[in-house]
Amino acid sequence: MLANKTVILGITGSLAAYKAADIASKLTQAGARVEVIMTESATRFIAPLTLRNITGRPVVTDMFELASEFSIEHVALAEAADVVAIAPATASLIARLAAGISDDMLTVTVLATKAPVILAPAMNVNMFENSITQDNLAKLKARGFTIIDPAYGRLASGKIGLGRLADVDKIIGTIKQVLGRGGDLAGKRMVVTAGGTQEPIDPVRHIGNRSSGKMGYAIAEAARDRGATVTLVTAPTSLPEPVGMEVVHIETAAQMKEAVAEATSQADALIMAAAVADYQPKSAAKAKIKKETPSLTLELIRTPDILTEVKGDFLKVGFAAESEDIVANARQKLEKKQLDIIVANDITDADSGFGVDTNKVTLIDRDGKVENLPLLTKREVADRILDRVVELLAKKARR
Ligand code: PMT
Repeated sequence: MLANKTVILGITGSLAAYKAADIASKLTQAGARVEVIMTESATRFIAPLTLRNITGRPVVTDMFELASEFSIEHVALAEAADVVAIAPATASLIARLAAGISDDMLTVTVLATKAPVILAPAMNVNMFENSITQDNLAKLKARGFTIIDPAYGRLASGKIGLGRLADVDKIIGTIKQVLGRGGDLAGKRMVVTAGGTQEPIDPVRHIGNRSSGKMGYAIAEAARDRGATVTLVTAPTSLPEPVGMEVVHIETAAQMKEAVAEATSQADALIMAAAVADYQPKSAAKAKIKKETPSLTLELIRTPDILTEVKGDFLKVGFAAESEDIVANARQKLEKKQLDIIVANDITDADSGFGVDTNKVTLIDRDGKVENLPLLTKREVADRILDRVVELLAKKARR
């Protein structure tokens, strides 16, 4: 999604400026063309040469040098930008932008661009909480700027408070989300489930499975990057919280059912990548079960079948992790659960299915179309599933 996009990365004079190197590196590795503009004070915190080496592009620090050194117009970057992200953004930069001042290359670019602008403030907690800064941010937000709230923690001053530059992954996620606004899922609401539900046996033990959540998270992020409004309903995982979507944390199948019912009330599609437990203990012990008896029998009952029971006029996409007769078994589930698409997941291959970063799937739809995909990354699989969702949504809209 970042490939071939031009991202203007503005850096201002804050101790957090060194983190811009990581942002530039991640964007560049993802295929973006990163044009760095640094204010004069930013160059005191991090050397332009560092950014130049990371991005492989000239770094702009002075508006008047620009034309001669790089032989480009001073608004050329503004015109080429797909997105402008300023991280870190100081209180002074925020005040100048709110006042419409354009007195250096960064403020000139922001004023001259038609691309969306993202600001990631970083400053002392008192400066951030000051009503002048808050008013300035509100003004910029009202003008369409995207503000990434700073994080809470230890600040350069030694104080603890709000003002640390947001996590680099959150900044990158926001850039992707903003770039995705014009995507083929813009205006669509998607609900995605991920991870393995945990059914409690007692306060410390549960019945679980090996789902890592990677497949579901990849679908949620891909849908976000294509412009969808996403709700991710997730069982516990060790994955970082994705940015730019609503994330609902649940543990059990019953909780997932409730969260899915609520989230799908206005959805265009539901994609259930979660590995939902089929059985749960009939009742969970209130206190930790003592290991005094040589054996223990648990009575299990069926969990609710979320896909079958959820009601509404939206596309339903299910997964089927299968080890034999993969396509035939998946087809049966498609019929039984009245799905639009089923993703038959081959779990016989060690590189496919639970826990790994890659997956080998076959997409089967209600009309009988069968598409065998090779081993792909879970992100690639996510995009192939979404291609089919886009197709079916368009077909549904024509009916
Ligand atoms: O999380 P990862 O480590 O990345 O692994 C991804 C995955 C292997 C878990 C995922 O790709 C996958 O295949 N998920 C479905 C697992 C499965 O076998 O589901 P199932 O055959 O039990 O159920 C079929 C469909 O019904 C699934 O979409 C499931 O979410 C849904 N279901 C199942 C049980 C239940 N009580 N309610 C449901 O809605």
